[in-house]
Amino acid sequence: MAEDITTTDEWRALAAHAEKLRDAHLRDLFDADPERGERLAGEVADLHVDWSKNLVTDETLTLLAALARRARLTDRIAAMFSGAHINSTEDRAVLHTALRQPRGATLTVDGRDVVADVHAVLDRMAAFAERVRSGQWVGHTGERIRTVVNIGIGGSDLGPVMAYEALRAYRDAGITCRFVSNIDPTDVAEAIADLDPASTLFVVVSKTFTTQETLANARQARAWLLAGLGGDDSAVARHFVAVSTNEQRVRDFGIDPENMFGFWDWVGGRYSLPSAVGLSVMLAVGPDRFRELLAGYHEVDEHFRTTPVERNVPALLGLLNVWYTNFLGAQTHAVLPYSQYLNRFPAYLQQLTMESNGKSVTLDGRRVSYDTGEIFWGEPGTNGQHAFYQLIHQGTRLVPADFIGFSRPRHDLADMHDLFMSNFFAQTAALAFGRTAEQVAAEGAPAELVPHKVMPGNHPTTSIIAPELTPAVLGQLVALYEHIVFTEGSVWDINPFDQWGVELGKVMANQLAPLLTGAEADLSGLDSSTRALIARYRAQRHR
Ligand code: F6P
Repeated sequence: MAEDITTTDEWRALAAHAEKLRDAHLRDLFDADPERGERLAGEVADLHVDWSKNLVTDETLTLLAALARRARLTDRIAAMFSGAHINSTEDRAVLHTALRQPRGATLTVDGRDVVADVHAVLDRMAAFAERVRSGQWVGHTGERIRTVVNIGIGGSDLGPVMAYEALRAYRDAGITCRFVSNIDPTDVAEAIADLDPASTLFVVVSKTFTTQETLANARQARAWLLAGLGGDDSAVARHFVAVSTNEQRVRDFGIDPENMFGFWDWVGGRYSLPSAVGLSVMLAVGPDRFRELLAGYHEVDEHFRTTPVERNVPALLGLLNVWYTNFLGAQTHAVLPYSQYLNRFPAYLQQLTMESNGKSVTLDGRRVSYDTGEIFWGEPGTNGQHAFYQLIHQGTRLVPADFIGFSRPRHDLADMHDLFMSNFFAQTAALAFGRTAEQVAAEGAPAELVPHKVMPGNHPTTSIIAPELTPAVLGQLVALYEHIVFTEGSVWDINPFDQWGVELGKVMANQLAPLLTGAEADLSGLDSSTRALIARYRAQRHR
């Protein structure tokens, strides 16, 4: 049985150190070390990461590195990259990193060269994308494709929509994408209402091809398409492609496996953007840009795989998150991209981080005795500044925050980008250093207002800056967070790669559905709350 990490000397040392650091203030830490801002920072690929505004000293970082060693982080990293079945509850390898290995690399897992398989699919995707983008692939009535509708949910939606939004500026073939995920019929209805079926391509993305939402939406899309194109079933082949690991189900749905792009059970849904799941993105930005995205991921993968923990940026950031969660009592973590293009990045990260590390038993099935799984949330700056930053600045909670920004904008309009980034730098400094009562009084605030205007500071932030939001940089950012999640999961000794917690709700929804559709009437087996709610729903629904 694996040891309980909280019983180790390394954990205890951190707990004692946290007590010692309780009264430290970032103001003092910066005053005592004029080089702190340069020293407590590092590079990974194009990302400059500054962790100096975190509530840490050199000793903290040394102790955290020791904790990582105790948790055998390096061995766990090696096991993941080698294709060991580290997803033990599903007996699967975890190889999203193989999706971005360069052509010609080899990795034999369970008897197959998975990198060769990856590139074979990428080549098929690229050939298809080129045909669609050039207009060689036409719809049933001979029109070229103008709109791609990605139908999927969870990892089959959030990665593609996040990346499409992030790379909008790179669309270069007149193809726009829309995304349908929710089983709320509003989603599909609104997404397709103003589209022309003749120039619309549906990409149905589902690892399992059993997901209720995706299949229901895909059925509606097919009915809409056929109605719009005269009811000829053969139209489906020109307007529907599938991305899945489940060929039989794709066939059963009526999509020709010729029009299916596969991936593998060793790619978790929330890690699947760099697989065929990214097809919609490739259709919009082209295969070359998609390959740049993959190359960006790979650079960070290599850094994570080969760099000692003391200089390993994703590992350090993951350890900082452990520090806040387990030793300083933080419950949540804000992600604040200063880029409108990254407007879906926080939502994407919520699945990546919370579906991965929202676990309460260790790999060998013991209940953990410590907190796991931070709650990630955020909004692009500066919108967040006018909404929830107040709580971070002057509230009672500790909210570590990641600020992500870029030096060069895509749209260089007057001085707007400089104003935008002034906010980034101002916020991180204000959060760290605040304003003391003396400063507030010296600025002329009336005595009774001084306590209200004091800015306590000492709020930790990490700043991530890149030259520009390119496909490669996007890949780097995603890989950075994937490996942060892995590091946390390693220390917590949990399995970040299963998601059993989402199953019960799915099963129960399927059981309740007949009571709502009218196929079954008897509510008597239900708990009193659910029974009353469904009775009310039925009464209102069929008024
Ligand atoms: O319900 C959670 C989940 O299984 C996610 O992990 C996954 O990304 C999503 O559903 C969609 O699954 P699929 O790609 O199989 O439709």
